Amino acid sequence: MPLQLSNEQLKDAANEFGTPVYVYHAERIKEQYENLLEAFKDTDVKFFYAAKALTNLHILRYVKSIGCNVDCSSINEVKLALLAGFEPSAILYTSNNISFDEIEEAKQIGVSINIDSISNLKKFGNKFGHRYPVGVRLRPNIMAGGNLKISTGHSASKFGVPVEDIDEILKVQEKTNLHIRTLHIHTGSEIKDVEVFAKGIEVLFEAVRHFPEVEVIDLGGGFKVPYMPGEEATDIELLGKKVKEEFEWYEKKDGRHLQVWFEPGKFLVSEAGYFITRVNVLKESGEITFAGVDSGLNHFIRPMFYGAYHEIENISNPSGKKRKYNVVGNICETDTFAEDRLLPEIREGDLLVFRNAGAYGFEMSSNYNSRFKPAEVMLKGGKAHLIRRREILDDLLRSQQEI
Ligand code: LLP
Repeated sequence: MPLQLSNEQLKDAANEFGTPVYVYHAERIKEQYENLLEAFKDTDVKFFYAAKALTNLHILRYVKSIGCNVDCSSINEVKLALLAGFEPSAILYTSNNISFDEIEEAKQIGVSINIDSISNLKKFGNKFGHRYPVGVRLRPNIMAGGNLKISTGHSASKFGVPVEDIDEILKVQEKTNLHIRTLHIHTGSEIKDVEVFAKGIEVLFEAVRHFPEVEVIDLGGGFKVPYMPGEEATDIELLGKKVKEEFEWYEKKDGRHLQVWFEPGKFLVSEAGYFITRVNVLKESGEITFAGVDSGLNHFIRPMFYGAYHEIENISNPSGKKRKYNVVGNICETDTFAEDRLLPEIREGDLLVFRNAGAYGFEMSSNYNSRFKPAEVMLKGGKAHLIRRREILDDLLRSQQEI
């Protein structure tokens, strides 16, 4: 049974730090990392935590403390990773459509960089030639999962250099003496099917023939975690076996050893996170009972943005008689967290917990309706630490100028 926080621990956190609040269970992150290490123990592999899922410095420090590397999606994330104590050699920078200035800054810091356009590859090659190895993000033209919003490797996606443009990359390499060390793909989030990864590997094995200096194949992130009851995670043991088989086969065939990199975000932090809200108002409307909580799409947008399902628990009345509710937010938009959800009887003041909220929860929050961003708490060694205080009015005003 995976590690979990108890209702008592969650209630204590809500009572001590107020709601809405994100609570993260550090040891659960470690457990997931260890699951990955175990599944891939027979492969020459490195994991880079995709920081964009959750960037709180304390989480980054914790991820570092368990021995994981970090993947950043902006130069600011690179700076946060440095502040968290990561060495540049443990930092990877993979983004898209960024300015060349940012790439140069990352190069100055000395991190590994995956570049995702011919235009920036040219600029990089012209300026640095063979002196600084880089990765190229390819678009493999593979559809991953069902949700187009989080599928990034398909043939209409903005991400990466289309794999059919390899000739262009080779021309840049020849002209500028670019040192290409890594080929990268990231086909999307929530990829349950091991075959999708296998297809990606196939595309990369075909591509790597053209790049004799490539030493690393970076398969990105996207391991699925179960959101709905009964849903399954990516079978990482099966994936581990598949990756081992494929890379051993390739090494035998072509006599080249390739190291494998992964950039898991959700897999490491999603299940470690709980988002606790309090019910402000109950409203009856014909057949529907609305439970209006003290949060909304400003704090936790996944249900509204992706139609994502998150389990909800009424931890104030877990054995109450079940009824159907529409759980909604307090923002001046239709911000429905869940429709027709069967939950133990909800009373005003009850605490509702959204499970699986560690990844892309706080990270995608905003100040819409001039509401404060929630607090963040990390439970480590059984102790609750406030790792981000709830905002105050000054935070909303801080960057506004007098004229
Ligand atoms: N590597 C790259 C280059 C990425 O763009 C991403 C995620 C990851 C790794 C990590 O993917 P993960 O293992 O977390 O699936 N906000 C959406 C997910 C967007 C993911 C963006 N890129 C959600 O809440 O489902």
